[in-house]
Amino acid sequence: MNQHDAQKMANLLRHDGWARADGAEAADLVVIHTCSIREKAEHKLYSELGRVLGRKREEPGLLVGVGGCVAQQEGEALLRRFPALDFVFGPQNLVHLAELARGARARVRGLRVDYDDDPQVRFELPELHPEFAGTSPGRAWVTVMEGCDLFCAYCVVPRTRGREVSRASAKILAEVERLAAGGVSEVTLLGQTVNAYGRPRPGMAAGEIAFAELLRRIAAVSGIRRIRFTSPHPAFVGDDLIAAYGELEALCPHLHLPVQSGSDRVLGAMNRRYDRKGYLETVARLRAARPGLALTTDLIVGFPTETDADFAETLSLMDEVGFTDSFSFKYSERPGTPAARRGLGELAPELAQARLEELQARQRALTLAAHAARVGERVEVLVDGQPGHERRQRSGRDPQNRLVNFRAGPDASAGRYVQVHVEGYTPHSLLGAQIGLQG
Ligand code: 5AD
Ligand code: SF4
Repeated sequence: MNQHDAQKMANLLRHDGWARADGAEAADLVVIHTCSIREKAEHKLYSELGRVLGRKREEPGLLVGVGGCVAQQEGEALLRRFPALDFVFGPQNLVHLAELARGARARVRGLRVDYDDDPQVRFELPELHPEFAGTSPGRAWVTVMEGCDLFCAYCVVPRTRGREVSRASAKILAEVERLAAGGVSEVTLLGQTVNAYGRPRPGMAAGEIAFAELLRRIAAVSGIRRIRFTSPHPAFVGDDLIAAYGELEALCPHLHLPVQSGSDRVLGAMNRRYDRKGYLETVARLRAARPGLALTTDLIVGFPTETDADFAETLSLMDEVGFTDSFSFKYSERPGTPAARRGLGELAPELAQARLEELQARQRALTLAAHAARVGERVEVLVDGQPGHERRQRSGRDPQNRLVNFRAGPDASAGRYVQVHVEGYTPHSLLGAQIGLQG
């Protein structure tokens, strides 16, 4: 989502007459895009900002802005703490970036961290500038909702990204149609809790559709061959979404379904709104609807009060599901979250680190097993941007979202689909050769 936001920022500026600089050192305007999901991500802002504002001492004409979740969280405090900083804007105010940059040129410092009265305003962004089209041929991200109303105990997102807002479905479909007409065949729908799309919320237009129906309508757009989305919340995987996996061929057989923990006690303390049994049932029903569905997940270790027994439940859940891959993190206390307000603290860092390493070793084994099981298969790959170093070496993604490195034929250009025979694997990718080129 942040990558997509960065693309939106660059695009807005491009449309307002700015051009891409040859690296940050050569830029007249530097916008630092920030994340506050864990403390480490937030620290990155301060080191980067120190560097950039140091440069501004030598080059007073340099303009500097900070966007993203740390900007939202810190707001005016950032402007006070860094007098040379020109502007600060939160994620809901991305759409106002060009205006802020114009203000900065006129020496007006800017702060945009309040909500627009009309929550749909944030979605009103210009089309991708022709200069930026073609960075990832054939593929595009599409924002369908933003914000989150779920308040998981550890998570800062509801504070930084604000309340859940679904984008008008007609606008989404118009964007997908435009993209498809321009040669995009794979869309990835984005939202904090993407499958909460369309659930009744204040300020929402009447007659809006549910997520599964949105998927159906997107699948019906001519030229769309692959639909992905991230990230869904397990509590909103309902009958209609499960049925969609059985019905929609374009819906890729991969689901990133964050579970966070395998222990019911921890899931309860996290306020996740499902338990282990419920999650496993959802997985079983999805796999019944779509045999071969690959599952990946997010996991947190060291949530306050997590015991060895709780952690063992997470490991056993990983085995039970057989996740193809996962992102795993040590719990990091974030300001203003329910867990921080409860004063739960953090576990001893060595203990959390040891658990993280054990979990990641378990995941490596599961990933290798999942890759090994694919050897001999024929897979369809959407070819990525850059050719590899070696001649005729290309890469792309299969329907299950695995990276595939393969020996390619002359027709394997970026944005095309090719058939690949899987011959081997590494911990991070499948290896193969385009059909017709084996041996
Ligand atoms: N500490 C550690 N990990 C976190 N995540 C979210 N908040 C925290 C936190 N405070 C993780 C969750 C989420 C992913 C995007 O980041 O696993 O799914
Ligand atoms: Fe954060 Fe939970 Fe919302 Fe995901 S569902 S963004 S983890 S509060």
